[in-house]
Amino acid sequence: MDKINIAIDGPAGAGKSTVAKKVADYLRYIYIDTGAMYRALTWKAIQEKLDLNSDEQLSKRLHQMKIDLQPSPQGQKVFVDGEEVTDQIRQRDVTNQVSTVATHYKVREGMLLLQRELAENKGIVMDGRDIATHVLPDAEVKIFLSASIEMRAKRRFLEFQAKGVEHDLEQLKKEISLRDQQDSEREIAPLRKAPDAIEIDSSNLSIDEVVEKILQMVNESKKRSN
Ligand code: C5P
Repeated sequence: MDKINIAIDGPAGAGKSTVAKKVADYLRYIYIDTGAMYRALTWKAIQEKLDLNSDEQLSKRLHQMKIDLQPSPQGQKVFVDGEEVTDQIRQRDVTNQVSTVATHYKVREGMLLLQRELAENKGIVMDGRDIATHVLPDAEVKIFLSASIEMRAKRRFLEFQAKGVEHDLEQLKKEISLRDQQDSEREIAPLRKAPDAIEIDSSNLSIDEVVEKILQMVNESKKRSN
C-alpha cells in the first residue's frame, strides 16, 4: 500500500514525540522531530555565542551546519556536524531559548526546506508546531495533539524525575506556558491547529489510546485513496 505523510502539531509536552515515534515504529515509517532541529541550531548558537535575536547570524549558521536525526533503539539520536548532541539539546538553557530562535523568518525558511526534503518520499511521521499549517500542508493525516497545562507540566516533571533530575512543578508550568505563548504569538508560522487537522486532547488518554486513534485515521485515509 502507498505510503502517506502524517503531521502532528501541538504545544510543548502534549506527548507528540512519544506518540509520533510509536506510530512511526508501527507503520515502519521514519519519525522526524522538527523541534530537535530547532533545538540543535539553538544549542550551536549558544555554544558559539551567536546573537539569538539575529536572524542573519542564525540562518547563516543553519546553512553551514549539518543536522542528522538517527533512529536508535533508545530513541532518536541527534547529531550536529557529526557530534552527538541528543542530551545537550534537552538542557534547560536550550529549552528556554529555542522559541526565540524559532521566531526568525530566514531560520524558519531554512528549516522548512530541510523538512520538506526529508518528507518528499513519503512514509514520514513529522511532529512540531507548523507541520500541518506550513511544512506539509498536503500531509494525508493531520493531527493537533493538545492536553491541559497541568497534565503537560506533570508529564515533563515525571520525565525529569525518571532521569534523576529534580524540577519544581510550578516553575515547569511557568516555563511551558511561556514557550506556548511565544510559539502561538509569533508572526511567522505560529502554533495553530490547521483547519483540516483533527484535534486529539490527550489529557485523559493513555499513549496507546492516542496511537490507536491515529492509526485508525491512517487506515481511513488509505481506504479513501484506494
Ligand atoms: O518540540 P519541542 O518542544 O522540542 O520544540 C522546541 C521548540 O522548537 C518549540 O517550543 C518551538 O519554539 C520550536 N519549534 C517550532 N516549529 C516546529 C518545531 C519546533 O517553532 N515545527
